[in-house]
Amino acid sequence: MVEIIVAPSYDAMSRVAADVMTTFINEKPHAVIGLATGTTPLGMYQQLISDYTNKLVSFKDVRSYNLDEYCGLAPDHKQSYRYFMQQNLFDHIDIDPRNTFVPDGVNENADAVCDSYEQNIIDAGGIDLQLLGLGHNGHIGFNEPDDVFSPYTHVVNLSDSTIDANSRLFAARSEVPKRAYTMGIGTIMRAREILVIASGPGKASIVRDAFFGPITPRVPASVLQLHQNVTVVLDEEAASLCE
Ligand code: F6R
Repeated sequence: MVEIIVAPSYDAMSRVAADVMTTFINEKPHAVIGLATGTTPLGMYQQLISDYTNKLVSFKDVRSYNLDEYCGLAPDHKQSYRYFMQQNLFDHIDIDPRNTFVPDGVNENADAVCDSYEQNIIDAGGIDLQLLGLGHNGHIGFNEPDDVFSPYTHVVNLSDSTIDANSRLFAARSEVPKRAYTMGIGTIMRAREILVIASGPGKASIVRDAFFGPITPRVPASVLQLHQNVTVVLDEEAASLCE
């Protein structure tokens, strides 16, 4: 079941999404949380940091698993998702660094990285609450439009549109890695609860296609319609094409 909440602004969307997560963690302090990078969660992460600073939530027993990581980027590379998470969340809250997991971008044994990441999530008891942003082409994690839904953590070749979108963060388009690790659609769908956030007019048509269109691997996020517990938090612009 998909519940859609429309907030009046990006800041309000970020606050609502942070409330969903802090309420969840306060009810289950040992929660296993799936996290996303990108532009959309930045405001939410600011709210989480402020909630932690104001002693409204503690992450000390939380375990986190990020959705994805670029192949070949070391944790201290400024565009790696590990670096992003440290800068924008982990370094500012009381989460135990040993309980934060991001696929290992530098291990060249891709099969080992994927298998151990998937097994690690299973050993942790599975993901309780998974945060997702939405790509313009409907990707979730780095699961690009495809003919099938991928079951497990795997390596993907990034689409041209995703490389274009991400090149804004690199000095040159040629520096954007061409491959990435990502949780599979199956990994995401096995989370007990899913929280999707999207903002801005550029996301309006994909929000409509993902949550009101046909369920197809050509729009990976559309599979979320089959999940039993999804909350989508949008600002008014991202919700503007929803009937
Ligand atoms: C990031 C991720 C991606 C982003 C998506 C939206 O870890 O998995 O699927 O959530 O590309 O990115 P933004 O928020 O930058 O529009």
